[in-house]
Amino acid sequence: MKRKIAIASDHGGFSYKQAIQNHFEDYDWLDLGTDSTESVDYPDFAHEMAERIRGGEVDTGILICGTGIGISIAANRHPEVRSALCTDATMARLTRQHNNANVLALGERIIGLESVFDIVETFLNTEFEG
Ligand code: RB5
Repeated sequence: MKRKIAIASDHGGFSYKQAIQNHFEDYDWLDLGTDSTESVDYPDFAHEMAERIRGGEVDTGILICGTGIGISIAANRHPEVRSALCTDATMARLTRQHNNANVLALGERIIGLESVFDIVETFLNTEFEG
């Protein structure tokens, strides 16, 4: 069975949200929107992600906005979310190992797509060390 991962973005992260799902076909993606590059409010998507984690539907998620900052701040207002904004694979590895981050935040206007693929791969395949 494929591992279920939730993913959401605002308009500033829409294209990476699509690219990540297309690139990683071995996951069961729960796409929480947005559905186009039309302007939306990023906190709505962070809150939706938190709802799904709180309800137990998923335990891991990816959030994307222009910088990754706003959507990560909004997600971390929820006690069940540990969102980590990562700009390289080392940060992704360490936040899984040391912080047990359950949400990866990314900035589409900050990092290139090849780096994003490395970061996602690392985040999803690194265990918490306890
Ligand atoms: C939207 O223009 C932009 O503010 C948003 O995507 C994000 O970068 C906020 O932190």
